[in-house]
Amino acid sequence: MIIAIDGPAGVGKSTVAKLLAARLGYLYLDTGALYRALAWKILKSRIHPTDQAQVTTLLPATSIHMQFQHGLVQVLVDGLEVTRDLRTPEVTTAASIVSAIPAVREWLLPIQRQISQRGSVVAEGRDIGTKVFPSAPFKFFLEADATVRVARRHRELVAVGRGETFEATSQDLSDRDRRDRTRSVDPLVPADDARFIDTSTLSPDQVVEQMIAAMSTGS
Ligand code: DC
Repeated sequence: MIIAIDGPAGVGKSTVAKLLAARLGYLYLDTGALYRALAWKILKSRIHPTDQAQVTTLLPATSIHMQFQHGLVQVLVDGLEVTRDLRTPEVTTAASIVSAIPAVREWLLPIQRQISQRGSVVAEGRDIGTKVFPSAPFKFFLEADATVRVARRHRELVAVGRGETFEATSQDLSDRDRRDRTRSVDPLVPADDARFIDTSTLSPDQVVEQMIAAMSTGS
């Protein structure tokens, strides 16, 4: 069983996907973490994320794995556990840039699909319902007002001790949105059969309830 959740940054996808996965006893497949893991290696290798040729050369020499233990997800790059290093602003920006490179998307596709063979998954990202798992029986596309998304992301950053300004968060989010929605391969677009949920005024639990209700009625 695969449940696909797509949507832009700051819409609450990760929180909701984690809750839903825990509730159903499914694996939580955070596909953004795979793009971030590759971005981490690119930065470590001192390659600029816009350098498509060098990034592409690095791919065959890279292995990315996800481990699931006691409800926790660990990401390994070339055997090294990097989970805690994937949320820095540098990795966030690099992941957004490299995710527009067609060879990167092609390379990550089988990795994502292989993970789904380990069990039922709630998979979250930008192209899950359109590209990675187009035949997923349940697809959700989350949206929220831009100001709500910026406020959520800013709160998250402040909570982990990053004192970036509201304006900087807003700029970062709109840059990432633009890149995600306008890239030539697998841009962020809802699948034709995705169900929309506007999370602007909903708590994560309320979003999960709506998803479960939609799945049980098949609507
Ligand atoms: O969801 P996230 O912010 O952790 O994702 C990091 C970057 O990876 C994001 O800028 C877009 C990209 N991404 C993607 O292009 N396709 C996915 N399925 C998941 C993430």
